[in-house]
Order: sequence, then structure tokens, then C-alpha cells
Amino acid sequence: MRVLGIETTCDETAVAVVADRLGGDGGDILSNEVLSQIAQHAAYGGVVPEIAARAHIDVLDRLISRALGHAKIEAKDLDAVAAAAGPGLVGGVLVGLTAGKALALALGKPFVAVNHLEAHALTARLTEALNFPFLALLVSGGHTQLVAVKGVGDYRRLGSTVDDAAGEAFDKVAKMLGLAYPGGPQIEKLALQGEPHRFDFPRPMLGREGADFSLSGLKTAVRLEILKLGTPSEKDVKDLAASFQAAIVDVIVDRVRAGVRLFIERHGAPQGLVIGGGVAANGAIRRALTQFCVESGLRFVSPPANLCSDNGAIIAWAGLERLKCGLTNDLAFAPRPRWPL
Ligand code: KG4
Ligand code: ZN
Repeated sequence: MRVLGIETTCDETAVAVVADRLGGDGGDILSNEVLSQIAQHAAYGGVVPEIAARAHIDVLDRLISRALGHAKIEAKDLDAVAAAAGPGLVGGVLVGLTAGKALALALGKPFVAVNHLEAHALTARLTEALNFPFLALLVSGGHTQLVAVKGVGDYRRLGSTVDDAAGEAFDKVAKMLGLAYPGGPQIEKLALQGEPHRFDFPRPMLGREGADFSLSGLKTAVRLEILKLGTPSEKDVKDLAASFQAAIVDVIVDRVRAGVRLFIERHGAPQGLVIGGGVAANGAIRRALTQFCVESGLRFVSPPANLCSDNGAIIAWAGLERLKCGLTNDLAFAPRPRWPL
């Protein structure tokens, strides 16, 4: 089966075609076209919804043609069309969702509305053979959640952030340090040259019951330290980045540990820990979780960084998984800017 997926929930316009494997697990990415709008938003220090929606309109039809061309298939040979229907910026979602429905209607093929977070959670099954149930850590610019993935369409939230999302914390701290948007990758790069123990930043929620996250206190602690320093030197900025990253890594590992405990209590032993979302591209977080999983005897499934950040292949794959379960949608499906898993 071959499914085309469209992603327009934030600042990436992305279209991909994926196929499942005959009798096997996992899938093949036949094409994966991603156009980032970062340059158009950079001057504003974040994503501007109206600019995002218009930019998606400008490029989406060309990107669909390109994805089909690179996959070397004709639209009529698709088995379904999937589009991310939320959560995200409503203008952008409307663009991708409408294009997906129109394409499905014109081809007479099923349409699948995909939850963007569900797509991050299911990506591990595109790249590796992995059975349900598993624990998914979803860490992106807008979301931070631990979810028990029991099956396609069967998700139980174990914990989420009570304030900032992990990517939001990276981006806000980066802004304070005078770094360009999106700040996560820049903090990771600077942290490599910094001293992670120079600033003793708080690790909120460490050891706390449940599996919720809180990150705004950490962000405030960085702000206060910057104020104390006055004008931070280049070395200060590197040390602040390294110390902030060390703190957030500790928080994430602790919350995942708590999430594993909750998972076992409620759903039995997980088949593995899966990560997804833009922040899951972070090398320090990946290394720490790898070590945690080794110590806990848990399988760690970390899709490659380009599949952790937003792209069309994850939407196409989630669409394919839903299609196989008969979970298709009618054309009245409305955008869901807020759509918790
Ligand atoms: O999943 P994603 O591409 O878009 C959303 O759905 O939000 O995530 C984007 C977020 C941004 O906050 C960005 O700063 C963060 O992921 N990010 C990173 C890294 N790469 C992207 N954060 C930390 N380290 C990275 N290497
Ligand atoms: Zn995302």
C-alpha cells in the first residue's frame, strides 16, 4: 500500500509517499519533501501564523507533484491520502487538510485525518519492527508528553508539561542568549563547548509522583543568571547553554523513569521507549536516554533526527497504519488546532 502524507501544522511544508512492506514490519519512504519556512519567520523570533499559512499555500501543490515524481508513482496509484488535521496553527492546518481532501476526492481514494502527535508516536514503527504497547516521549516546540501507545488510535497520556514545552524552553533560553530561532539546535552546538556544571540550575519535578513536566522555573533561573552576569561573554553563553541543557536532560530522564513506572503499573511491561518531536533530535538527550534504557533493560527506539522533526513521511505512515485498521475519515473532518492525544 502506498499513502501520500501532507504536513502543514507549523512552519514546515512537507509531503511524502510511504509504502508498507509485504508481510514485514516497518515501511519504505519513497519520497520525503520538506520545505522549511524558518527564513521567513526568523526576523520575528518565532513562527507568525499568517505568514505560515500563506507560505504553505504558495508551495504545497508543487511539493505534492515533486513528492509523487520522486516516488516515481502516479497519483492514481496511491491507496490513500493523509493530512495532519492538528494540533497546530489553524491556518496552516486548513491549507494541508483541504489539499489532502481535494486530492483524495479527485482520485476517488480514502482520506485519513492524522493527529500530528500520533504521527510522531508511530514513526518508530516506520523505521523498525516494533510491537504495541510502547512508551512514547513526544518533545517538540508545542508539546511535551509521555504517552502509552497501546495500538493504532489507542493512546493513554501518562504525563505532560504543566507549563512550557521542551522545545519552547530551548527556544526561549536561546532568545535570552541572543541566538536565532529555532534555538534548540544552536544551544546544542554551543553546549558542546561549554561547562555543564558551572551553573547549578534547578531540575523541576525531579523525583515527583506522576510523570508531569515543569520547565518554566528552569527558564526563569537562566534569565536571573543572565541578569546577574550583565552582558554575558562568549564563554558565559556557552556555559549557560551547557548548564541549561544538562538540567533539561536530567529532568527528561527523571520524568521518563517515572513514566516507565506508571506504564508498568497501568499497562504491563512496554515493548520499548520511543522518542519523537523536534527536541528528540538533540544528541545529549538521545545519549542520556540510551544510557537510561541500557540500565533499565528497555529497548530504545530513536528514529533518525530528520524523522523526529516535522516531515510528511510521519504523516503518510500514520495514515497508512490507520488505513490498514480501516480508520479513514470523511471529507467533513474539520481542522483541530487543539487535539490532545
Ligand atoms: O517537532 P518540531 O519540528 O515542530 C513542532 O511540532 O513543534 O519541533 C521544533 C522544536 C523547536 O522548539 C526546536 O528548537 C526544537 O524542536 N529542536 C531542538 C533541536 N532541534 C530542534 N531542541 C533541542 N535540540 C535540538 N537539536
Ligand atoms: Zn512535530
